[in-house]
Amino acid sequence: MPHQPPCAILPIPVAIPRVTCATRTSTFNYYGPVQSLLTSEASKFLATITDAVEQEAASTINSFILATHNDCIGAAEEKTACWLTIRVTKPTYEFEIPRWHQDGRMFPYDEGRKEVVRSKYALTLLGPTTLMLQPNAHVFSTYHRGETQHYWWRKTHGPEPTEENKDQAYSTLRHWLADEFKDAIRVRVGDGEVVRFSWGRDDSPVHSEPDLISDRVFVTVLYGSESELREMCNWRSAEYGKFDW
Ligand SMILES: [Fe+2]
Repeated sequence: MPHQPPCAILPIPVAIPRVTCATRTSTFNYYGPVQSLLTSEASKFLATITDAVEQEAASTINSFILATHNDCIGAAEEKTACWLTIRVTKPTYEFEIPRWHQDGRMFPYDEGRKEVVRSKYALTLLGPTTLMLQPNAHVFSTYHRGETQHYWWRKTHGPEPTEENKDQAYSTLRHWLADEFKDAIRVRVGDGEVVRFSWGRDDSPVHSEPDLISDRVFVTVLYGSESELREMCNWRSAEYGKFDW
């Protein structure tokens, strides 16, 4: 079975469009077949919400899809569909304290494809890049220790936690991890560099939104078969094939 490491930077950076600001916080979402219409819809979105020029944005999105789709392991039908999202955000204090986490499973795997490492690809067009810790044994053991210590209900057979208990535990763990990882080595991501990181595995990279001190434009994509992406839509109550923004 082909195997990809949990985290990598693709060898060739993508030329990013000139973009300096966003008009408002907004998200573009698409779950559906990998198709050329995706580039035009995504670039229309970018030209509407930011000061990017549509053609330049289209060229970036197109290069991003080509490079990531090519890098993604699997036969054509195993990566015929995608989830592409563009997050445009205005400054906020929400991530002043990092939200260190691993991405969980995004969809049920097709028969016989469970062992294949699945990844998400990320590219920042404007503003700070995602914070990502260099995956190593210390990071994972600290992360799992934090969860074991703070999510007490996972190991006992006592009463179910209330929503308030969970919120409190989540918040305490978030602060605890922020402190534990304040000096941890981070993956360095340069301009136009595409980061590939796995999801749904024990060694998936621990990452966080950056502190959103300025306008930010951020694109991610993942691939799977049509049935996998259709199931993902079911999980998320999204519509397959629809451009949502
Ligand atoms: Fe994440």
